[in-house]
Amino acid sequence: MSNVFELFWQMMVGFVSAFIRLIWKPSAKSIHGETALVTGAGHGLGRLLCIRLAKLGAKIVAVDVNEEANQETVEILKQNGGIAFGYTVDLRKAEEIHRLASKVRDEVGDVTMLINNAGIIYPTDILSLTEEMISNTFRVNVISHFLLIKEFLSNMKRKNHGHIFAIASYAGLIGNAFLTDYSASKHAVVGLMEGLRNELKRQKLNGINLTCVCPSFVSTGMVQNPRARLGLVPVLTPEYTVNKSVEALLRNEFLVTLPSATFQRVVRDLVPDSVMDALQAYVRAEVDLIDNADE
Ligand SMILES: NC(=O)c1ccc[n+]([C@@H]2O[C@H](COP(=O)([O-])OP(=O)(O)OC[C@H]3O[C@@H](n4cnc5c(N)ncnc54)[C@H](O)[C@@H]3O)[C@@H](O)[C@H]2O)c1
Repeated sequence: MSNVFELFWQMMVGFVSAFIRLIWKPSAKSIHGETALVTGAGHGLGRLLCIRLAKLGAKIVAVDVNEEANQETVEILKQNGGIAFGYTVDLRKAEEIHRLASKVRDEVGDVTMLINNAGIIYPTDILSLTEEMISNTFRVNVISHFLLIKEFLSNMKRKNHGHIFAIASYAGLIGNAFLTDYSASKHAVVGLMEGLRNELKRQKLNGINLTCVCPSFVSTGMVQNPRARLGLVPVLTPEYTVNKSVEALLRNEFLVTLPSATFQRVVRDLVPDSVMDALQAYVRAEVDLIDNADE
């Protein structure tokens, strides 16, 4: 019985502190001197995340399959007074991830912030998706997260200190037509982050924080011509997305939807599927499909 009272007490404290946090945002933590490994650092959100984190004093380990673009990011960081190291890695390949991790440990030191950002997408109908495409999507968008977490979490656990950050997507909350493998991979990222957060709480490792950001569309060029009726799924600028993502990271916030999708998530659980179908058909969030698609 006392456990039930304890639970109610904890829930009340949780509600009250969440309400207070709405009014008085908690102060931002310092990441000066942390070592942040950022995947997909050569372009889009990854490059901007590197720039913002380096400005805040973090040492950056930039990782991308595109050597030239990644090196460009490293040069930008160095020219602005940052400390940066670049590694060319194909995140589809487990052996390259293991090699990266041991090189980073030898050449840079312990990674204290893991920024799982890299992602790929094949907008097409499910029958046009090849096994290779599905496998690539899952390898880059999800399995690389697991492998990198497995490489760097032990050290974070030893020190009860660290931050694991992931970019998922709105597609990780609501499945999108013609983005089935992508949506499934992003749902998996949200599941991974939620599960890991609960695991670390059970292990009383409160010094390791997790942040999972779910943006709507972002104008990085990753998808072509993103659109939705009345702009109901907005196209965000990369700068806005990164500012909000870094703000969430500095305040140790967990699940962040950009823009806020709390209302849509509650509605989704309350209304019948047919109502949800009508809403989806009306909003019609979509991107240009690749050539072989069968719409
Ligand atoms: N752009 C959007 O509309 C949008 C919306 C929601 C979420 N996201 C997510 O945000 C993240 C960043 O997206 P972005 O828009 O900056 O993409 P982007 O295409 O601009 O950049 C992705 C980077 O990842 C790298 N990359 C791709 N495959 C790789 C591999 N196998 N190994 C290593 N690096 C690889 C690319 O070279 C590139 O530098 C992704 O996870 C994406 O799913 C994007």
